[in-house]
Amino acid sequence: MQLDVLTLFPEWFGWFREQRHVRNALEAGHELRTFNPRDHTELSGRQVDDTPFGGGAGMVLRVDVMDRALSTIYGQDPVELRRNRRVIALTPGGRVLDDRFVDELAAEEEGITLLCGRYEGFDERIVQHFCSDTLSVGRYVLAGGELAAMVVADAVLRKLPGALGHEHSAVEESFSAALDGDPEYPHYTRPAEYRGWKVPDVLLSGHHAEIRSWRRARSHERGDEGSRLERDDDSAPGQQPG
Ligand code: ADE
Repeated sequence: MQLDVLTLFPEWFGWFREQRHVRNALEAGHELRTFNPRDHTELSGRQVDDTPFGGGAGMVLRVDVMDRALSTIYGQDPVELRRNRRVIALTPGGRVLDDRFVDELAAEEEGITLLCGRYEGFDERIVQHFCSDTLSVGRYVLAGGELAAMVVADAVLRKLPGALGHEHSAVEESFSAALDGDPEYPHYTRPAEYRGWKVPDVLLSGHHAEIRSWRRARSHERGDEGSRLERDDDSAPGQQPG
């Protein structure tokens, strides 16, 4: 997997790159590269953005600058590039990231490019002509796409073989197919009793089939609870149209 990030703040990713699972993935041959569009602009003062047509606050990333950056990095017209590579614009209004999409990205053979917006985001022509997808990490606005890119990179890289130590597994975890998309069951460790709070007996029983079925049931309950909270949220007064 070659994971590329176009960002005005590549230094943010220095810390991320040092994290154990990221280092493991890189040592296993995967790549995480960062590129700064400022290194590719021909405008004076390393300009990459401009004021929005029609007025309004903030600055918008320029389509000509992104065109040049992508063309230089990949040696091909970005209009063509998006036909053979996932080029994703990170934006609060995009497709909301979930485990299914993470799986889809982790299976990507040609590599992925994440474009980080700043300020008011992208000139829409960048999204329309250079991107294969838009992606949001939630319906709230971050100051830029960098943290969102790290969320995506983290979620994808940890799914790659060798990223998690052998003591961990991404197979039976929250939202995975192994749990039918439900959240993971609760975990407990020593002490078996603390301040009168007991670990469920079944987990101490050594009875593997019963433990499995108890975990499956708890996982399912959490899934139902999550759906209920989402439904309640959708019908909250503040969410009603008008
Ligand atoms: N950029 C700013 N806010 C964002 C969000 N919620 N998701 C993805 N990219 C963003």
